[in-house]
Amino acid sequence: MAYTQIIGTGGYLPEKILTNADLEKMVDTTSEWIVERTGIHRRHIAAENESALTMAERAAREAMSDAGIAAKDIGMIIIATTTPEKMFPSTACLLQHRLGIAGCPAFDLNSTACAGFVYALSIADQFIRHGSIKYALVIGSEVMSRVVDWNDRATCILFGDGAGAVVLGASKKPGILSTHLHADGTYKDVLSLPVSLGKPGDIEEDLYIKMTGNQLFKLAVNILGNLFDETLAANSLTKADIDWLVPHQANIRIIQAMAKKLDLPLDRVAITLQEQGNTSSASIPLALNKAVRDGKIKRGDMLLLEGFGGGLAWGSALIQY
Ligand SMILES: CC(C)(COP(=O)(O)OP(=O)(O)OC[C@H]1O[C@@H](n2cnc3c(N)ncnc32)[C@H](O)[C@@H]1OP(=O)(O)O)[C@@H](O)C(=O)NCCC(=O)NCCS
Repeated sequence: MAYTQIIGTGGYLPEKILTNADLEKMVDTTSEWIVERTGIHRRHIAAENESALTMAERAAREAMSDAGIAAKDIGMIIIATTTPEKMFPSTACLLQHRLGIAGCPAFDLNSTACAGFVYALSIADQFIRHGSIKYALVIGSEVMSRVVDWNDRATCILFGDGAGAVVLGASKKPGILSTHLHADGTYKDVLSLPVSLGKPGDIEEDLYIKMTGNQLFKLAVNILGNLFDETLAANSLTKADIDWLVPHQANIRIIQAMAKKLDLPLDRVAITLQEQGNTSSASIPLALNKAVRDGKIKRGDMLLLEGFGGGLAWGSALIQY
């Protein structure tokens, strides 16, 4: 049986850092409130000449170098991003061009928001397991700083910019054991970026993320708890089998609740939230990359990845790393 393995990881964070103290000067908030309610201390903000494309390229090149794979070997490029370079060509096509390759499928997943990376991983996994391609580049890249209202204290404190990437490769040894994707449009208004393409009646505030934070918080905790049960049951495993949780980084209190659900100590959870905020679809590959680089996640460890976001859309991946 063929499996998909993560054979390389990479990440990129912009140089500019925005601290909670900086935010205190911009909106009516305090660093204490932000840390207590979210766990976030600082976040990275893209420079004017940076974009989802430039950051994706940095992360992708690092992941390919880590995997020892040349660009010409890549059989598919998927970029999960809610902040693409353009509506089209896709950021993935633009990256393909920058990498000097042509021919392989390349597309963006634009609308699965913070669940985007897990969705993209799942799609690439199907192609590799069925033998259609050998290697895939799966990236999450976001310039959230360009879609938050910097006057809205409820949202602007949460988000940051960055990109994370993995190279997936076909393998005879177990890798991705299962993926589980879901969505429920009932909750379409809980989290949205309502901008439409020049429809009459568009108003400026539609250009920014809208969120009912406390409702979303409760939904996330319930949804993710059920998702963990589903993922473990599908693999006839128990929570004791999980070595590492690699969660979407939205709020430290959600992450703590998820660690508790798995009986995992927090030092077995890949957390970047304090330093990076919520980087949407980039948060999971960035957290994975950091935990791997820091020597924490090791080959053979059992990883549970989970993401949730606007849609609502959510998903998990169980991976023997
Ligand atoms: C956003 C979030 C941090 C807010 O925390 P919360 O404890 O739910 O806070 P609430 O939204 O209930 O607001 C509580 C109070 O703090 C205020 N507040 C909101 N943002 C604030 C800020 N930055 N500084 C100070 N006060 C703030 C609110 O106005 C409200 O005041 P009120 O009680 O006078 O009305 C939290 O709900 C959250 O993280 N939700 C999930 C977000 C998420 O997962 N998003 C991404 C998914 S991809």
